[in-house]
Amino acid sequence: MVDRGNPIIQVKNLYKIYRVGETRVHALDGVDFTVYKGEFCAIVGPSGSGKSTLLNMLAGLEKPTKGQIVIDKIHIENMSENQLVEFRRKRVGFIFQSYNLLQTMNAVENVALPLSFRGVPKKKRNEIASRYLKLVGLEKQMKHMANAMSGGQQQRVGIARALAVNPKIIFADEPTGNLDSKTTLEILKLMRRIVQEQNQTLVMVTHDNNLASYADRQFHIVDGRIVRIVEKEAADGENPELTDTADEPAVGGTLDMADEAAAGAIEEQMAETPEINGQNLKAEGEKE
Ligand SMILES: Nc1ncnc2c1ncn2[C@@H]1O[C@H](COP(=O)(O)OP(=O)(O)O)[C@@H](O)[C@H]1O
Ligand SMILES: [Mg+2]
Repeated sequence: MVDRGNPIIQVKNLYKIYRVGETRVHALDGVDFTVYKGEFCAIVGPSGSGKSTLLNMLAGLEKPTKGQIVIDKIHIENMSENQLVEFRRKRVGFIFQSYNLLQTMNAVENVALPLSFRGVPKKKRNEIASRYLKLVGLEKQMKHMANAMSGGQQQRVGIARALAVNPKIIFADEPTGNLDSKTTLEILKLMRRIVQEQNQTLVMVTHDNNLASYADRQFHIVDGRIVRIVEKEAADGENPELTDTADEPAVGGTLDMADEAAAGAIEEQMAETPEINGQNLKAEGEKE
C-alpha cells in the first residue's frame, strides 16, 4: 500500500554534468521529486534523456554534481565510496536489463551471491536463495545454469537476487528490455506483485510509455528534466490484464512473517560484518 505520509526517496535540485572533452553534458538538469513507501514508480523518457543516470544516482552507484538525494531519511549525496558500498548492500536491490547473472553458476548460486558478500553462511544463504526462487516461480529451475535458462527465467533469477537481501527499495533499469512482449508482461506483474506483498518500493526505468502506464506514478523525463508526473487514475482501470491473476503462473507462495523476520535478523547480524568482496553491486552497476 502506498503511504503518502512516508517519503522514502526525496530528490532535490539534482544535477549531473559530465565533461566530454571540451563540452559539458547536462545529463540531469535540476530534478526534484518524491517517491513514497510502497509506490511503484516509472521513470520514462526517450533514449539519452537521463533515466539511467538518475537511477544510478538514487541507488548510490554514481555521485551527483549538485543537489540532494535522501533515501529513507539518509542523505547519500555526500557519502564516501565506502559508505555508499555499505548503503547499497543494506538498502538497495538492483535489477538490470542484461540480467548480469554469472553464466556458469546455477540459479541458487547466483541469488546467494549478494548474501555471501555479507558473510551469510553457505547453508543459510542457499536456504534464503531457494525461498526467493520459489517466490519468483523457479522452484523447478534452482539448479539450472544461468546460460541454460530463457531470458524470462534469467530475469526471474535477477529479481530473486535483488530481493534476497531484503532491500527497502528495488531499482530496475529497463528490466524487460531484452524480453518478448508476453514475457515482459509476466515479469512486470511479478515485480509489481512481490513489491506490493512485501511492502517494498519499486523504481523502474523504461523508454516504453505503455510499460510505464502500469506504474502508480510516471515521471516523464526529457533532456535531464522531469517535465510531467502522471498519476494512475482508477486502480488498474487502464490495464485490467495486470490485475487478472487467474492466469498467473503458479509460484511458490509468499514470504511469511517468519521468513521476513529471518531475513531481517540476518540483516542486523551482518551489518557489522566487514566487506568480503568490495566489488559487489558497484562492479555490476558499472558494467552497464
Ligand atoms: N559516463 C558518461 N560520460 C559522459 N556522458 C554520459 C555518461 N553517461 C551518460 N552520459 C550522457 O548523459 C545523457 C543521459 O544518459 P543516460 O542517463 O544513459 O540516458 P538514458 O538512460 O535515458 O538513455 C546522454 O546524453 C549520455 O550520452
Ligand atoms: Mg539507460
